Amino acid sequence: KDIAERTRAVVVAHSELKGPLLPILHELQHEFGHVPEGALRVIADELNLSRAEVHGVASFYHDFREAPAGRHVLKICRAEACQSMGADDLAGQAESRLDIAFGNTTADGAVTLEAVYCLGLCACGPAAMVDGKIVARLDAGKLDTLLSECGQ
Ligand code: FES
Repeated sequence: KDIAERTRAVVVAHSELKGPLLPILHELQHEFGHVPEGALRVIADELNLSRAEVHGVASFYHDFREAPAGRHVLKICRAEACQSMGADDLAGQAESRLDIAFGNTTADGAVTLEAVYCLGLCACGPAAMVDGKIVARLDAGKLDTLLSECGQ
């Protein structure tokens, strides 16, 4: 089945809900590993929303990806408390070593680099998350090791 068809099935399955958009996006993210551009169009048509509206919601929530994630996902906290502990330098270090900007995946599909805004670990910042595992007190050396472990 193609994306449009599968998306339509998900929309129909949620059509009884009052606010179906978020549950639909979650379900699609679960099914495809990301929310494909083609799905947004179908959702807009089916729910009678503009594409801009659907797009706005999908991009507002950092949980939804527009493209498949890499084999590893590195999230670095870019909120204030971590920033004051040097997270910006670490963010720059990750970007230059991976040679990508935040929100992107390395060309070989190994690592997706994402920003998060507070992991609830402000006291042990800078905080990060690798493949769902929390990393506290991140520093340049630790980041280097993490990236090496991700094959970079
Ligand atoms: Fe980074 Fe709270 S600001 S964990």
